Amino acid sequence: MRPFSALDRIAEWSWLDKPASALRDAVFAVLRNRRFRDVLHGVWLGHPVHPMLVQAPVGAFLSAGVLDASPERGAGERRAAESLIGLGVVTSLPATLAGAADFAQGHEEQQRTGLVHAATNGAALTSYVLSLRWRAGGRDRAGVLAGWTGLALIAAGGLLGGHLSYHQSTGVNHADAVPHVAPEDWTDLGALSELRDRVPSRRMVGEVPVVVVRDGTELHVLADRCSHASGPLSDGTLSWRAGSSGNAPCLQCPWHGSVFRLSDGGVEHGPATAPQPTFHTRVVGGRVQARVRRIPGVPAGG
Ligand code: FES
Repeated sequence: MRPFSALDRIAEWSWLDKPASALRDAVFAVLRNRRFRDVLHGVWLGHPVHPMLVQAPVGAFLSAGVLDASPERGAGERRAAESLIGLGVVTSLPATLAGAADFAQGHEEQQRTGLVHAATNGAALTSYVLSLRWRAGGRDRAGVLAGWTGLALIAAGGLLGGHLSYHQSTGVNHADAVPHVAPEDWTDLGALSELRDRVPSRRMVGEVPVVVVRDGTELHVLADRCSHASGPLSDGTLSWRAGSSGNAPCLQCPWHGSVFRLSDGGVEHGPATAPQPTFHTRVVGGRVQARVRRIPGVPAGG
């Protein structure tokens, strides 16, 4: 048995669904503002921010652990370790908020693992708060032990976070393969007359499902599987938004509500952070043809 295959089991623990759903509701109650959730997801960065934000507390806690283990440990090291633990606790707040926003938009199995990840990190934070308290009360040995316990829990939480990303594909770009697997040549998508105005239709470009939208004389073709978690955009809803690029026609994913611009696949609203791959289009003899853009969001000439 692989050493960490037990982690796969967590996704099967359906008894976690009730607390996970309570936590999800609590997250949505606290993070009501969609623009704020977009900031926490990392829409502004084009990348999830949670992995970046966790570096500060993890670095601070690890450094405090090294100082506590120093054989030369004196008053200076003790004060520095306390400051680092305080810094770790404070910088855990934005990391936790970003993680909570991502957690709330995961599917059931991801939320089961996410709940254990959150509980482990919560226990680590509790250990560090106790550590600070005991150190301040003169119980140095207990404070150091609580710090090391917190560090062990942080390591376990990090392992679970990695599992969420690398095994359960949380926060990864689910549409990344499209420019690599779609055919390089123009592909026929059927007669233009078959496309109803402003009604998303699903077609295939080779093995890649795409969504086609006819908007008057404009034609838009995007990868159908949402970059957030593979939701079918062809079942989504069209809207026109006054966004960063003016009054842009957009398509909203039916699963978690990510909103993509039809013009370039850019993200107007998360939880998706990666742009949706788009296709060049042309009409030849009354038939629609599409060809993938190799770099999403960057036109490469028709
Ligand atoms: S699959 Fe989650 S927003 Fe599309």
